[in-house]
Amino acid sequence: MILLKMMLLAVVAVVLSSLVATAFGATKPGFKARITQGALDYANQQAIDALAKKASSASIPDQSGSSGVFDYQISNIHLTGLSKPNSQITIVPGTGLSWTGTNAGVSLNADWQVQTRGWIPISFSGSVDASVSGTNFGTTMVLGVDPSGRPSISCGSCSCSVGDVNIDIYGDLDFLLNLFKGMIEDKISDAIPGAVCSGVTEAINIKAEEQLQNLKVTTLLLDDKFRLDYRFVLTPAFQPPYMETFHQGEMTWAKNPKTPPFSPLPLPDYPSTDRMLYLWVGQYVPESFLYAAQVNGFLQYSVNPSDLPQDQRVFLNTTCTGICIGNVIPAIGQKYPNSIVELRMNSTSVPKVVISPGDLEASFTGDIALYAHTPQGVVPYLLTLNVSAIFNMTVTVSNQLIKGNISGSSFQVGVLDSAVGPIQGNINLMMNFVLKRFIIPKLNEKGNSGFPLPVTGDISFTNTQLQIQQNALMVATDLLYTPH
Ligand SMILES: *[C@@H]1O[C@H](CO)[C@@H](O)[C@H](O)[C@H]1NC(C)=O
Ligand SMILES: *[C@@H]1O[C@H](CO)[C@@H](O)[C@H](O)[C@H]1NC(C)=O
Ligand SMILES: *[C@@H]1O[C@H](CO)[C@@H](O)[C@H](O)[C@H]1NC(C)=O
Ligand SMILES: *[C@@H]1O[C@H](CO)[C@@H](O)[C@H](O)[C@H]1NC(C)=O
Ligand SMILES: *[C@@H]1O[C@H](CO)[C@@H](O)[C@H](O)[C@H]1NC(C)=O
Repeated sequence: MILLKMMLLAVVAVVLSSLVATAFGATKPGFKARITQGALDYANQQAIDALAKKASSASIPDQSGSSGVFDYQISNIHLTGLSKPNSQITIVPGTGLSWTGTNAGVSLNADWQVQTRGWIPISFSGSVDASVSGTNFGTTMVLGVDPSGRPSISCGSCSCSVGDVNIDIYGDLDFLLNLFKGMIEDKISDAIPGAVCSGVTEAINIKAEEQLQNLKVTTLLLDDKFRLDYRFVLTPAFQPPYMETFHQGEMTWAKNPKTPPFSPLPLPDYPSTDRMLYLWVGQYVPESFLYAAQVNGFLQYSVNPSDLPQDQRVFLNTTCTGICIGNVIPAIGQKYPNSIVELRMNSTSVPKVVISPGDLEASFTGDIALYAHTPQGVVPYLLTLNVSAIFNMTVTVSNQLIKGNISGSSFQVGVLDSAVGPIQGNINLMMNFVLKRFIIPKLNEKGNSGFPLPVTGDISFTNTQLQIQQNALMVATDLLYTPH
């Protein structure tokens, strides 16, 4: 029974701890996971192997009791054999999962001792071999979602049957005790199904449910400024050969969480099931991030010489012999020589993301206000440029993170306002410099730190593929489970 409990827990743990979920408001998912029969087969195999390993080193507590005038103790119980069941996890349409096994068996050896109670206690002892074989079991697990957006689990049904129980008693009076062999075997055989099923029911309804209640369904990102929310927003769908879970997939400003004024777009249909796990990161994930970033003033940055590579810093000087801002925009160089320019960049509207087959683009519009730091220690305002830029991105998956990199860019720039008179200079040259030397490297640095997918440390991806689909990035992958 202990073994079955462990088996079940292992299965539940493998299947479900691979998902971290959460949910306020939106019922349309921004993120979706598809777990295929391949993943369940893998989970089943891992669970059975883990069980066999655990069982062989498990210690079984001594048992004692009394019957009539006898007191008995069974001690030193140890496993002498284990036959792994032929087991299977399958998807039950509309409900959840079923786990069935046939031909499980276990054999044990133990020491026994019996005392009579009375005037003159008499004590007998010996050893016993016991084996149970041909055990079949079946259970269904009903999966749903609780009000906190975490998955819930309960035991739908359980059945168990025992093939054969065999007991051989050795030691004092063994010829006599073995007379009762058949009776003892029948008693054990009758007791097993109820004990297995109550163990299984408890394992699912209490232990597994408890684990799910403690699932981490949100995570903080980017210096804890943003919260990524993976709560379940809908009941999982069970449609062999796969099950699907639907998640919020929303990013909010951690200190001021606010659902954005738009909803997730439909996630693409994609029938494939040849990998174990499919994840769809909807356009809503980056869109909600950019919304939170914009309304909370995160998309502002002040560029100073120290933000640039050492050999590029001269660009922000107003006086130089080569290429620097003072020469590119002569009005600045003439009015404020020997100064350093600071660029205050500010996104002026929520940046847009377009995800369409094979193509990922982000566009920004913003202002760049220029200020001079003069030798006299004052900081006069110079001018404001307005900019719109489009970035083409490539995306990859590594270490369970989606990483983005800017592969191309285009921009338009204009002068919005000037305090240094009409601007004759080549503002495109200047903008190009800022983009290539500062903005793109900085964004790539962030993009390379990656976006976390909801899998635990025990599970890693292998044989992974990423596709840019309509309104979503899809990651298709097999899994590798390495218990710590
Ligand atoms: C640019 O400014 C820095 C800092 O003031 C200064 O050390 C450097 O000499 C300047 N370079 C030129 C070429 O003026
Ligand atoms: C940045 O742009 C936003 C939106 O246009 C504006 O409200 C905000 O005042 C700007 N901030 C700065 C520092 O220019
Ligand atoms: C990202 O793109 C830049 C060009 O924009 C390239 O130089 C760099 O090697 C790329 N980085 C990665 C990790 O692909
Ligand atoms: C971005 O990608 C689109 C579509 O692939 C292409 O038409 C466009 O020229 C690219 N832009 C840049 C700046 O690379
Ligand atoms: C800059 O602002 C002007 C005036 O609002 C506008 O006409 C122009 O299209 C803008 N340019 C860019 C690149 O945003």
